[in-house]
Amino acid sequence: MTTGEPVPGRSYVIAHLPGDGIGPEVTEVARGCVDAAAARRGFGVQWRHCALGARHYLDTGEILPGEVLEELRKTDAVLLGAVGDPQVPPGVLERGLLLALRAELDLYVNLRPSRLRAGVDGAVARHRPGDFDIMMVRENTEGLYAGAGGTVHRGTDFETATEESLNTRAGVARCVRYAAGLAAGRQGRLTLVHKTNVLTHAGDLWLRTSQEEAEAAAVTLDYAHVDAACLYLVEDPGRFDVIVTDNLFGDILSDLGAALTGGLGLAPSGNLNPARTGPSVFEPVHGSAPDIAGTGQASPAGAVLSAALMLDHLGEREAAADLDAAVSGVLAAGVPAGTRAWENALLASLTAVPA
Ligand code: IPM
Ligand code: MN
Repeated sequence: MTTGEPVPGRSYVIAHLPGDGIGPEVTEVARGCVDAAAARRGFGVQWRHCALGARHYLDTGEILPGEVLEELRKTDAVLLGAVGDPQVPPGVLERGLLLALRAELDLYVNLRPSRLRAGVDGAVARHRPGDFDIMMVRENTEGLYAGAGGTVHRGTDFETATEESLNTRAGVARCVRYAAGLAAGRQGRLTLVHKTNVLTHAGDLWLRTSQEEAEAAAVTLDYAHVDAACLYLVEDPGRFDVIVTDNLFGDILSDLGAALTGGLGLAPSGNLNPARTGPSVFEPVHGSAPDIAGTGQASPAGAVLSAALMLDHLGEREAAADLDAAVSGVLAAGVPAGTRAWENALLASLTAVPA
């Protein structure tokens, strides 16, 4: 597909959920980039604004009202900025909004690419662009994030708190199946990261399931304990192609991946419903960063790369590649000084020569 008029049917309804802090600033730039790529590649985008997050909660007491969730279900995708504010106690929005969206929309894969781009200083000085290109696939609805557990005898010496890790065969299998399929389209190397030597029950389920899914997808399966995986990511990240892991390990490993590739400001994520029974949710990994909100310093790169993942998921591969290449091009030319400079450079790239 090259430039041209929108093809009937190639039009998407996308919910824009800017949230708090720097969320609105960075998603505004990402929206502009999506619109520019849409114009270039000949498809249409209708944005639906959605006010959720800390500000909305403090103003109205609402976290994720049922009607809003139903509206979100009708969209093709959701672009989310960031939610959170120091005035809201920890857990309220994380559980009530972010994890609730993952559960309600069945976003069972959290896809987090980790690739060092030219012009970026990763945390490890000897790493060079091209040394590694990793897709981290984090299970996104189960494990320790499923919400099982509780507190009894609160406030006494016998207070007991439990957090239980839930691992269902169906839940593990569908996540690993996605990762194995992804690996099959790449270098064909899948690495399961877990802690099978200590977490023997869940580890055994993950390992057996991974062996089955890797065989079915005809990819090679490697295994690393999560502690060793941290070491390998720093010392020899090139050994990884696609990593599949549980919810908590994936949360932690993907921040390490972000550090290796220039920090959280550059890190994108896709909360995917690969079964496509509803929209997927795309968000930069960085938070709301209230300390720099409104100062014009925020980098929109994580949001733009998340929008690229969104376009790819929608099947707009060329537009996705446009956004990805625009970010790489801007970084290679020297990291822009602030949000506006980023926006100008990205739009210059996206509106330059018709593809
Ligand atoms: C992330 C964040 C979230 C997560 C929190 C805020 C719920 O840390 O996107 O990595 O654990 O997924
Ligand atoms: Mn995290």
